[in-house]
Amino acid sequence: MEINNFIDSNKQRFIDELIDLLRIPSVSADSKFKDDVAKAANFLKDKLLAAGADLAEIHETAGHPVVYGEKIIDPQLPTVLVYGHYDVQPADPYELWDSPPFDPLIKDERIYARGACDDKGQMYMHIKAFEAMTSTNSLACNMKFMIEGEEEVGSDNLEHFVRENKDKLNADVILISDTSIISNDNPSITVGLRGLSYLEVEVTGPNRDLHSGVYGGAVANPINTLCEMISSLKDENGHITIPGFYDKVEELTKDERNALNEAPFDLASYKKELDIDQIHGEDGYTTLERVGVRPTLDVNGIWGGYIGEGAKTVLPSKAHAKISMRLVPNQDSEEITKLFTEHFKSLAPESVKVKVTPHHGGQPAVTKTDSIAYKAASKAFEDAWGKTPIPTRDGGSIPIVAMFKSELGLNTVLMGFGLDSDAIHSPNESYGIFNYIKGIETIVLFHQHFARLKKIE
Ligand code: BES
Ligand code: MN
Ligand code: MN
Repeated sequence: MEINNFIDSNKQRFIDELIDLLRIPSVSADSKFKDDVAKAANFLKDKLLAAGADLAEIHETAGHPVVYGEKIIDPQLPTVLVYGHYDVQPADPYELWDSPPFDPLIKDERIYARGACDDKGQMYMHIKAFEAMTSTNSLACNMKFMIEGEEEVGSDNLEHFVRENKDKLNADVILISDTSIISNDNPSITVGLRGLSYLEVEVTGPNRDLHSGVYGGAVANPINTLCEMISSLKDENGHITIPGFYDKVEELTKDERNALNEAPFDLASYKKELDIDQIHGEDGYTTLERVGVRPTLDVNGIWGGYIGEGAKTVLPSKAHAKISMRLVPNQDSEEITKLFTEHFKSLAPESVKVKVTPHHGGQPAVTKTDSIAYKAASKAFEDAWGKTPIPTRDGGSIPIVAMFKSELGLNTVLMGFGLDSDAIHSPNESYGIFNYIKGIETIVLFHQHFARLKKIE
């Protein structure tokens, strides 16, 4: 009770501090924001200390820094390691934002800014929950924080940090808020994330741009060829045609499929929200299955030729595309990258040359539902939201989760509080103040239940 009073009476300050953090354009993908990324790391270090951490440090990496903090109150008590990220996706295209992405705006009880939900808002809830517990003398577990600045670019340097700091990161469980719930009426806990394989392809035709009248029809147009190659990557049933692609895909049992499809899902409002007349995907699977437990392949960007104003008659020399595949257990990111590369090159007619360059990837992950940590999270939701959370499989990726298991042997609980309508990675990203504050309360309850359940284990 005392903790909830503390949260209640500090609500405005908690919001104001998040807004200060959101003002810092910590875009990890774009080197022009490098100083801002560092500024966000320093901001968090200071806030961890102010919230009661015994120690908070900035660890430089080959890329952006990792912020580490801890408060160890009693070695006998369980330790919770909170992971989050303070970097954000680029805000482009800026012209589609109704208010500037790094000048946060509160409207209709929501905070609008890049990173409001993913992941500054969700990560900062943990620092405020920590402050609420230290300020009311009710910290139930030892706490460690590892907040990185490269999640949106694949966490490559964090992998190195984790391998080099296994003792420092020793804990009983990893707690992450970087996923979504079904709705505020239907809280849920994410128990699966897809993996990722991401590549860039370049198709080259003639050695220079040509007049499309003088040469058109006689020389391969690399954009046409690229489009043909891409469209052959899926058949008429929405199956991916790369040989071996499905070999390791885990097929769910009938019972597992039924359980997954019991989660509330309203197709009509899904279509309405996206302004689409029809959904589209792999034959034989529901929407929840298509995003949760089935792999997929998408073009994320495609370019080449003339895209300026008016018309220029040109047969381009080169065409490019960025292609991603979302993976499910037990597909392996590196193996899929290899299969794609071989297959894509084999698709190329002799009239063009093809170059394939891999970008970052990540392994899929499933988390346990029979662990003490999952039970603690479930209880926390029951107490704060009045409903037992539904386990769900999310379509997004957090590459480091699989690595926490393989390198540290630690299980993760994905206790997210976002909504799909928060528009993460899109223009006008936002986060509900209700979710921000309710999330802080739920996190506090997680720590209390986790300590209690560990004791009677
Ligand atoms: N927080 C997201 C992942 C996410 C979002 C999981 C919603 C579940 C529900 C994370 O920041 C993210 O965007 N990850 C990237 C992967 C990364 C390698 C760029 C993604 O999924 O595209
Ligand atoms: Mn995220
Ligand atoms: Mn993201």
